[in-house]
Amino acid sequence: MLEFQVYPTYEHLSRAAADVVVSTLQTKPDAVICLPSGSTPVGMFRELILRHEQGLADFSQCTFVGLDEWIGMGPEDEGSGHQLLDRDFLHPIGFRSEQVLFFDARADDLHAECERINRALEELGGLDLIVLGIGMNGHLGLNEPGTSFDTYAHVSELDPITIEVGQKYFQGPTTLTGGVTLGLRHMMEARRLVLMASGEAKAPVIARAVNGEVTETFPASLVQEHSDAWVLVDADAASALL
Ligand code: GLP
Repeated sequence: MLEFQVYPTYEHLSRAAADVVVSTLQTKPDAVICLPSGSTPVGMFRELILRHEQGLADFSQCTFVGLDEWIGMGPEDEGSGHQLLDRDFLHPIGFRSEQVLFFDARADDLHAECERINRALEELGGLDLIVLGIGMNGHLGLNEPGTSFDTYAHVSELDPITIEVGQKYFQGPTTLTGGVTLGLRHMMEARRLVLMASGEAKAPVIARAVNGEVTETFPASLVQEHSDAWVLVDADAASALL
């Protein structure tokens, strides 16, 4: 079932996404949750930190799973997914290291690293909630166009659009050689999936994700097949649909 919600502003959208995270934790304090890095979730993180400070959200028993990472980068690297998440969410909340499952994208054997994540997630019983942003080419995590809906964690070859758009996370021109990411199958199997988007630039990809053909050439279209998917957008990101 696909729930589509349009909010007047980015702030409203961020509060709504935070509501989903908080209500998941209220129902299941030891939930396994995956939240993305990137620009889109920053407002949601601010809201979650606020609620944590006010005693309205308790993250102490949950497990946080990282969605994706650029190959060769770790938490010390400016612009890495892990660094953005540490800065914007994990450190301010005070997550303990044993609560966090994240790819080591500097591992010598990245395929073995993906298998480690797959096994760990399976042992945790899978994801209760995954929150996702959407790429300008319709990617989810770093599942690029053409990725099978059947994949778990894997090494991803980056699409030229991802390499270009990804520059926004770095201070200067950065060579992005590939990624590691949870797979589309993880997303399909997550008990609840939230896809967030903000801004006019995302309007065409949101329209295609929600109304276009369900196809592996456009990974975000899988939301239409998910049993409990919520697409939450601000009015600008909905503008190609309204
Ligand atoms: C990036 C990341 C994704 C992210 C998406 C949207 O390339 N790999 O995990 O969700 O693209 O990013 P943003 O929210 O910055 O637009």
